[in-house]
Amino acid sequence: MKIRTTTLADAQAIFNIQKKTWLNTYPNEKYGVYAKDIAEKFADEERVISKIGRWLSSDNQDHQGWVAKDGDKVIGFARTYRKEDKIMLGAIYVLSEYQRQGLGKKLLEKVLEFQDRKKDKIEAIWLEVAIYNNKAINFYKKAGFELIKGSEGKFKVGEGKFIPTIKMKLII
Ligand SMILES: CC(C)(COP(=O)(O)OP(=O)(O)OC[C@H]1O[C@@H](n2cnc3c(N)ncnc32)[C@H](O)[C@@H]1OP(=O)(O)O)[C@@H](O)C(=O)NCCC(=O)NCCS
Repeated sequence: MKIRTTTLADAQAIFNIQKKTWLNTYPNEKYGVYAKDIAEKFADEERVISKIGRWLSSDNQDHQGWVAKDGDKVIGFARTYRKEDKIMLGAIYVLSEYQRQGLGKKLLEKVLEFQDRKKDKIEAIWLEVAIYNNKAINFYKKAGFELIKGSEGKFKVGEGKFIPTIKMKLII
């Protein structure tokens, strides 16, 4: 398995991995979020890929993505960016058949290394996670992130449909 920084040519592979992991992760009966709601977010493939392409080609110095590969196959992905005054961990996705093999941890290390080596020293890295995504919450807690009480929010997945979220932060 190899990890390298992203190029514009990774847009399609990132789309594929994002769609797969979202379909595995976000449907939740209790919150009325169904596979079809998630699938709809990816229905206009061309539009989503061009959106991915826009941030892959961003020249923002706080912004970076990585892909993990098994041979030619993209099996994981991570990205970090700045949102106002906060450095964000935007995403870490590992295909289900490659999970629990240390890949998520390696991708997270790349993000932390990248943000930590910059001159304008940062104090923390933030993320937003679905409150029912226990797998990810456990993964982030193991890495030292803490849940921020009172930071609950919503991520829109369709008309009147929301994934409930909470923020986590890691002091570095
Ligand atoms: C969360 C995710 C990125 C973790 O990636 P991973 O490659 O499986 O994680 P690692 O193998 O590096 O795990 C590191 C440690 O995190 C913890 N961990 C990982 N998955 C866990 C799980 N399902 N349950 C409990 N702890 C877990 C463990 O302590 C693990 O160490 P161990 O394997 O020695 O027990 C992966 O499950 C994933 O891609 N999920 C779907 C997409 C997603 O929800 N992304 C986060 C969006 S905010």
